[in-house]
Amino acid sequence: MQNLTRLFNKIKFLWIKSQFPSRNPIKINKFDKFSIFIICLLISIISSYELASDPLINLKLILPLILNFCEILICCGILIYISKKENPMINSRQIFLIIGLLLLVQIVKIKFSAISPLAMIVPPALIISQGMGTVTALSWVSIACIYWPNSVDSNNEYILVITFISSAIVSILGGKIRSRAQLLQISFLVPFGAFLSQLFLFGNNQRDSYVFNFQNLILKPGDIFSDSFLLAMLMLMVIIFMPILESIFGLLTKARLLELADQEKPLLRRLSIEAPGTFEHTLLLCGLAEEATRMIGGDVDLIKTGALYHDIGKLHAPNWFIENQNGLKNPHDELDNPLESAKILQDHVDKGLQIARKYRLPKPIADFIPEHQGTLKMGYFLFKAKERDSNVLEKNFKYSGPIPQSKETAILMLADGCEAALRAMNINASDKEALMIISNLINSRLIDGQLSDSNLSKGEIYLIKISFLNVWKRIRHRRIQYPTTKNNTFS
Ligand SMILES: [Fe+2]
Ligand SMILES: [Fe+2]
Repeated sequence: MQNLTRLFNKIKFLWIKSQFPSRNPIKINKFDKFSIFIICLLISIISSYELASDPLINLKLILPLILNFCEILICCGILIYISKKENPMINSRQIFLIIGLLLLVQIVKIKFSAISPLAMIVPPALIISQGMGTVTALSWVSIACIYWPNSVDSNNEYILVITFISSAIVSILGGKIRSRAQLLQISFLVPFGAFLSQLFLFGNNQRDSYVFNFQNLILKPGDIFSDSFLLAMLMLMVIIFMPILESIFGLLTKARLLELADQEKPLLRRLSIEAPGTFEHTLLLCGLAEEATRMIGGDVDLIKTGALYHDIGKLHAPNWFIENQNGLKNPHDELDNPLESAKILQDHVDKGLQIARKYRLPKPIADFIPEHQGTLKMGYFLFKAKERDSNVLEKNFKYSGPIPQSKETAILMLADGCEAALRAMNINASDKEALMIISNLINSRLIDGQLSDSNLSKGEIYLIKISFLNVWKRIRHRRIQYPTTKNNTFS
């Protein structure tokens, strides 16, 4: 009996752990929830339209009709659930996009019954996989293919299989693709592949009466060349309009992340000119954070971009931060007021968020700004304040948080702490000493509860320590002075 209880508790623990959100989800208001439900209802009604419009509708058809209606409604619910699981920070606009695209497919298939499922299902799969990930896109594709009408033509089943395979390829690649050039490649290759597969399956017997003109290219549903051409055109349109969709629906695609990580971006140029010390710190931090994220299998592009923007708030007063003082006087000494100094430190978070809003940085990137500091104590100024008044309120010397809500922001917090310590370390220090410094720093954050919401496991924390050590070894290697000959001629 005891064993059973233990087993039950273990299963319960594993279940709770698997349900642990990697981020606190965004709350969706009641009106949006209601609107999403109405759209799901519409999808169910339209999808059941074929059954309901049967002229011989009788009592025998009522039950399948109700079952079909409920089935689609449940499928919509599952699709929303999966998208929330894959994107815990999904907002109502993004759910509207997923459900809206499904509704659009249903409406178009009713309006233009002869239209190819290829052109209707593959382009939305590209949008969803780019913006919300492969799993959400695959779920969307499955539902869209299952509820496509059966009666388009005799080859419908084969076309649906080709559509499903093409959409699955687009969904898998779309979630990984890192540049718009690669997107362009798949927008040609996938339609071409679909055209060849249809040609092998059906031959070109559908093109007996085919007359080549522009109208036939896009408006001859059922013709394999026309369908593939329409698909290629729609995929190109998606690529052209993707930046607009990104800003309307707040999507964060890989291409957008890479664009933001371009160091020629005005905000990053400002950081490198106005706060060169902070910029240097940022670059070293990127190396540490990137290595650790790769080691635990996190989103490398996200953390790289997030790391570049994490301290942009220091632009409001660069010389108040030690890395930009360049050996000059420290204004905090002149101010001689620990509480005011603590406020200036907190300002680099608050002003950072303001700058992020001004430059329209996507929310997942802006989240790095407050979360990299979490609710850490400003140790130096707290110590100074306690020297003057031992009853000083500790909360005035803590960052306002929140603590890291994802693995990536937690890694950035740890890298931020380790960066200065590793840079200051003696180049002759042993690996063991370096690992000890890294471990002490990470353990202090762990004990302080800063990693509680990040979902980092003990194994992952160990891997992060090892990856920081590896980066330090590289830095040390660079800093070792090579002996030079008298005339410096060797290379
Ligand atoms: Fe910071
Ligand atoms: Fe920093």
